Amino acid sequence: MLKDKNILLCVTGGIAAYKAVQLVSLLKKASANVKVIMTEHACKFVTPLTFQTMSENPVYVDMFHPLSNMDVEHISLAKWADLIVVAPATANTIAKINLGIGDNMLTTVLLAKRSPVLIAPAMNTKMMDNPVNKKHLKELEDKDFIILPCGDGRLACGDIGTGKMLDPEQILEYIEIGVSSPDFKDKNIIITAGGTREALDPVRYLGNRSTGKMGYAIAREARNRGANVILITAPTSLTPPEGVKVVPVESTKDMYQAVEDHFEKSDIFICPAAPADYKAKHYSDHKIKKTQGDDTLVVEFDRNPDILQTFGNKKGNRIVVGFAAESQKVTDYASKKLNKKNLDFIVANNITKKGAGFSSDTNIVTIIDKEGPHELEMMGKDELAKVIMDKIKGILEQKS
Ligand code: CTP
Repeated sequence: MLKDKNILLCVTGGIAAYKAVQLVSLLKKASANVKVIMTEHACKFVTPLTFQTMSENPVYVDMFHPLSNMDVEHISLAKWADLIVVAPATANTIAKINLGIGDNMLTTVLLAKRSPVLIAPAMNTKMMDNPVNKKHLKELEDKDFIILPCGDGRLACGDIGTGKMLDPEQILEYIEIGVSSPDFKDKNIIITAGGTREALDPVRYLGNRSTGKMGYAIAREARNRGANVILITAPTSLTPPEGVKVVPVESTKDMYQAVEDHFEKSDIFICPAAPADYKAKHYSDHKIKKTQGDDTLVVEFDRNPDILQTFGNKKGNRIVVGFAAESQKVTDYASKKLNKKNLDFIVANNITKKGAGFSSDTNIVTIIDKEGPHELEMMGKDELAKVIMDKIKGILEQKS
């Protein structure tokens, strides 16, 4: 997504400047072109040479250094950038940008900006909460600057609170959103993810091997493409993508309820989750104890609702996409689910194949729609997420 994109990183004088070095590294790994502007104060924290080495480009600090070519540098930099990110952004620079002050290279380039600008504030909690700073941030937001949230935790001054710059990995996610083409803008998409858990007692549950990776990859891709994403997720070890609404759930019943809560306003429903098909008939309020002589434990289960089938059958004009995890007769079984659950298409995978299934980063799938099956090569789950969203885009275009 970031390949060959021109990212202009503006670094101001805060301790989080050191984290901006990591951001450059992540951007380079993603094959972006990176140029860096630093304020003089930023140079007190990290040297320009560090950024020059990491970005493989000269670093801009001084407005008045002799011209290396005949370009007017602040204008040519603004023209060059596909996206500008100010990270860390101090209260001082935030105020200057808002007031249109151009007293250094960074603020002057921002006056000439023509691409989206992300601002990643980093400061002490009290400074962050200062009404003047808040006013500047609000006014910048009204002028279409994208203000990133701050993290919570222990700040450099020892205070605990809000004001930490987001981690470079999180800022990278916002950069991905900023450079993407918003072809799902204003679409509300519900995505389920992970394996639900059915409690047996306060300690044990019935679960499955789903990791949530596929659902999270689709959520990230949909978000990158401008959708409003609601990610209804069973417990996983994954960090949810930035900028999506996360609804944590535990059981299939909870997941069902969360889908119901959001279904009315949705345009698209994608269901890669592995909701448990059964729940314990009798939940034990206390830990189930072993009893002498009992070598066998019998637990009775009741059927859970089928979330996809229920909502597929009341989909109206929505696009509904399902998944099928099969260990045999993949196309046959998945085609039956396509019809029974009233889906636009189903993504079927043979979980017994190497490189497919639950904990893998890759998948080997067959996409089945009304026209029949279409087998795909093994690919990363991120790549598959793109294929799925492209297919949904095609259906949306046909509908309109
Ligand atoms: N699904 C669902 N609710 C359930 C079970 C499954 O919404 N209670 C959804 C899954 O998220 C997936 C699709 O239905 O998109 C197919 O799930 P899968 O586990 O492959 O099949 P099942 O329909 O449960 O049928 P079976 O277990 O008999 O294969």
